[in-house]
Amino acid sequence: MSLYKTFRDPDFSLFQSVVEEVMAESPDAGVSFSPDGEVADPMVAAAISIGDLLENDEPLPEGGGVVSYAGLDLAEAARYCASNAWQLIRAKLRGDQEAVEQLQEELGPFSICDPRWAESVEKYLVKVKLKGKTIPYRTWNKINDYVFNDRLAANARIAIIGDWGTGQPAARAVLRQIVRQQPDIVIHLGDIYYSGTAREMRQNFLEVCRDILPTGTQLYTIPGNHDLYAGGKPFYDMLDEMGQPASFFALRNDNWQFLAMDSSLHDSDTFTVATNVTRLDEREALWHQQKLENNQGRKSVLLSHHQLFTAYGSVGSINKSPQPLNPLLYATFAPYLDKIDLWLWGHEHNLIIFEPYKGLQRGRCVGCSAIPVPQELNPYSTNPRLIDPPRFNNVRLSLDNKGVYNLGYAMIQLDGPSAQVDYYDASQEQHPVFSEMI
Ligand SMILES: [Fe+2]
Repeated sequence: MSLYKTFRDPDFSLFQSVVEEVMAESPDAGVSFSPDGEVADPMVAAAISIGDLLENDEPLPEGGGVVSYAGLDLAEAARYCASNAWQLIRAKLRGDQEAVEQLQEELGPFSICDPRWAESVEKYLVKVKLKGKTIPYRTWNKINDYVFNDRLAANARIAIIGDWGTGQPAARAVLRQIVRQQPDIVIHLGDIYYSGTAREMRQNFLEVCRDILPTGTQLYTIPGNHDLYAGGKPFYDMLDEMGQPASFFALRNDNWQFLAMDSSLHDSDTFTVATNVTRLDEREALWHQQKLENNQGRKSVLLSHHQLFTAYGSVGSINKSPQPLNPLLYATFAPYLDKIDLWLWGHEHNLIIFEPYKGLQRGRCVGCSAIPVPQELNPYSTNPRLIDPPRFNNVRLSLDNKGVYNLGYAMIQLDGPSAQVDYYDASQEQHPVFSEMI
């Protein structure tokens, strides 16, 4: 049985959204996932297995004119139909009429495929049409736009979750646990899966937060790459509903400033020949720099979806060589690293406490709040292809009895000019796995 799984590919993420939406809206809908995060629906499972093949550059199952279930088990049939639906979408989008006709026949009313696959194809194409060409990003006019000076109490308690937008029972359990610690503010570091459709914004994020957070808890989010794969309009519509004016913002009091950035706007349009690392919008970069330059003695916490650096995968490649450090984010913040007291990011689904690296004292990855990571992925290993990767301390999330890493989050307790930051493994609610004073 496979686990809840997401993929980096924007188009395939949208396909996952559509398959789940069609499945959920059908009259005999069951659940997509069991309470412990295992895939329960055969269509959702089939989509994941196609994603796995695409990710590993392996060939997709070919129907070859399969017309009956004879000789095919149910899961195998679903995989064939998922592969067919995906290929039909690609053929339609590139206008390959011959392939369209053949695939359509194999997916049509006289085929073995559940009609919901054909429905998924149609729904996908509608979503692509509606997607719009540009993300409706909002820039600033005055340098103090999107700065909140009256929302961060001197003794505020701030919970940080990352890569949390699955809507799954495990994600809900993490937020319930956080509520027991009575935060004033909850900040999500982005990624509402699979592709940030209106339905996902509602069901995987806003409604869950409204269900679980007590009235009066402030809630903020910044975009992850997945939030924008459906075009970004649903993400911005949700911000409006939350009363958050933009995808980047600052929370400030006399002693602290939290600068939350949008690292995802350029995540999917940076695929040039030489590099594919993300960067900030140029005007937004100036906005953050101005706040660090004029910190007026405040300590600064940076919040982003993407990593400044990594040891596990890469932040992207330059001339095909995987990079441990994002040179574009680094260029933006390098002059101010001595003024940055803490930088929390997500994107990788893990809890990692890095050693000081390239001038940043405290880089921490907290993208561990919802996605199950099996032990086989070795999330605490270092990619041998990285040159001069960062080191990290010996803090590890624990494994559950099925060999899957437990989830986690961070909790920041301000106390005037100082703060205690606690990092939790959600299976050990009473004691943080790591604490630091800043
Ligand atoms: Fe991400």
